[in-house]
Amino acid sequence: MTEALLKVAGLTGGYGAETVLQGVDLEIAAGEIVAVIGRNGVGKTTLMRTLAGLLRPQGGSIRLAGTDVTALSADRRARLGIGYIPQGRDVFPELTVRENLMVGEVAGRGRARPDYDRIHGYFPILKERARQRAGTLSGGQQQQLAIGRAMIGDPRLMVLDEPSEGIQPSIIKDIARNVRALNRETGVAVLLVEQNLDLIVSLADRGYVMEKGRITAALGNDEITSRDHVRQYLTI
Ligand SMILES: Nc1ncnc2c1ncn2[C@@H]1O[C@H](COP(=O)(O)OP(=O)(O)O)[C@@H](O)[C@H]1O
Ligand SMILES: [Mg+2]
Repeated sequence: MTEALLKVAGLTGGYGAETVLQGVDLEIAAGEIVAVIGRNGVGKTTLMRTLAGLLRPQGGSIRLAGTDVTALSADRRARLGIGYIPQGRDVFPELTVRENLMVGEVAGRGRARPDYDRIHGYFPILKERARQRAGTLSGGQQQQLAIGRAMIGDPRLMVLDEPSEGIQPSIIKDIARNVRALNRETGVAVLLVEQNLDLIVSLADRGYVMEKGRITAALGNDEITSRDHVRQYLTI
């Protein structure tokens, strides 16, 4: 394998003096969909925030396509191709759908021309509701907007934190289908945090198990697509 798209080594970090990440190692190749699974509070969101550049690492390194981004700001990382979709979605509620997408355009790489038609093709609701305030959308629609906002910047890696949270099952299926299609058609790699069994087994190519701030197991394709296998890491 040539150098991984994302290579995380010995990553430590957290909030102020509190260390949550205890030395995380993981790798993603271009075009892969990789899930990080684990129970509540083990540090999955802290890891995603640290990868996006919103939390400063205490130690270790993060490399993106051969570039050391460990010390770079969130906006520099976004321009290098990390598209972050936070847990809870975090769309700008007072801005319109269209304005939210424009924020993603500014935050993204700015290399490719923003392809609104493509995003509208995946998520037609974002065209239909373009002039509506994002805060008036349902949870599922806001999740589609958050994904669209990241994708409009043409990222190389989508960092997707619990997209299924608080969303009804039919929409979860939709989201899984669209993320898979975006991956196939644009080549974007996906690092996915999830607790929803259906979404994990239907979407991920392989996975990592996180416990107490560490990666404790790597799951191959046979394991990540087995409901019985994945379930044991999710039950409380
Ligand atoms: N903003 C914060 N300030 C301080 N501690 C936090 C903050 N957010 C999360 N934590 C703590 O970090 C730990 C990991 O949380 P988190 O990364 O959100 O876990 P997960 O996403 O796996 O549920 C928990 O002990 C949590 O209480
Ligand atoms: Mg979380």
